[in-house]
Amino acid sequence: MKKSSNCVNKFVLGEHLDTADLPKFRDSLLSWFQTFQRELPWRKNRDPYRIWISEVMLQQTRVAAVMPYYERFLARFPDVESLASAPQEEVLRLWSGLGYYSRARNLQHAAQQIVARHAGKFPRQREELLALAGIGEYTAAAILSIAFDEKHAVLDGNVARVVSRLEAIRGDLREPKRWANLQTSADRLLAQESSGAWNQAMMELGATLCTPRAPQCLLCPVAQFCEGRKLGIAESLPEKRKKRAVVAIQLVSVVLLDSKGDSLLLPPPATLAGSKPDDHIPSLVAKLWHFPTVSANLENAFRTILLRDLRIKNAKFVRPELLDKVRHTVTYRTISVAAYLVRVKRLPKILGAKHLPLTEVHSMPVSGLTRKVARSAVKQLSASKTTH
Ligand code: ADE
Repeated sequence: MKKSSNCVNKFVLGEHLDTADLPKFRDSLLSWFQTFQRELPWRKNRDPYRIWISEVMLQQTRVAAVMPYYERFLARFPDVESLASAPQEEVLRLWSGLGYYSRARNLQHAAQQIVARHAGKFPRQREELLALAGIGEYTAAAILSIAFDEKHAVLDGNVARVVSRLEAIRGDLREPKRWANLQTSADRLLAQESSGAWNQAMMELGATLCTPRAPQCLLCPVAQFCEGRKLGIAESLPEKRKKRAVVAIQLVSVVLLDSKGDSLLLPPPATLAGSKPDDHIPSLVAKLWHFPTVSANLENAFRTILLRDLRIKNAKFVRPELLDKVRHTVTYRTISVAAYLVRVKRLPKILGAKHLPLTEVHSMPVSGLTRKVARSAVKQLSASKTTH
């Protein structure tokens, strides 16, 4: 392609990088990746199943957080069949603490689709991949390129930032038109003959050097090709996008504790036959196993839990101990939980509920929020032991 003479067009389409420079640009990044790539467990082989699991885990989650989950998940579910046939509870348990649990549900659903539609063999056609639960453009491109070297350029947050700097693209990258232009730029940059290594190199550059704050341009293997750097604006790209307003959510939870030291967890509603989602139970909590919880907006929240959810009739006599406040953030929501420890002689019999020691709560499929509440209760118990 000839160097565009239309400057406005170049800014819009992101074609500052001269076509004649592309081979050198690609070689520089690929050889940097060969030498400096991190040793990561999903880079050990090119099994599409293992790559798929890693890419789904890495969505919205940092590499360091993913590693132990990845190893455990693959030890338990080494292939599509084992994942497809496992109880959903177990899949969720191995995901517990990683967040965004629909990812785990979709993974299993897609594994079942692969068994049913493709006899357990990972499909290689983009359309077939896109038809699976939870697989979108990004995941399909990552699997096809990394496992099979098919010519698809990935575009995720890291790659978008790298491209926006290389091509000095301004504005909110997530605006659909701009995102489409970024994809066009990423497609143009793709090293066709080694698309798997290329995509990983672009993501690696974004994750390690071309980071959101303080990019390390002096170490960057492609700094000489970077229009953002030439203009002295690399650090200020991508431009800030309009942030979604933060929503503050306040909840009240009750941790019941009996004389044997067992506490009570409620199951996700879907596991109870015929149960309907309850408006009062925030879905953030109730999709997994959880302590009895209601929104703090509910009048008499604490008593509602005891009387309605736990059917503790003599609630008047119950003396709650307020635990340290638990805070948790999920994307734009900040959640704060007023959790009460309530000691009872015997735990009430609630259909489907589980009785277990607080220290074992983390072995159930629970959210990070429920883990924090359990930890707060354990802390309170050990503090009260030392003062009594
Ligand atoms: N982030 C998501 N997937 C990645 C990959 N394959 N390599 C580096 N960073 C990533």
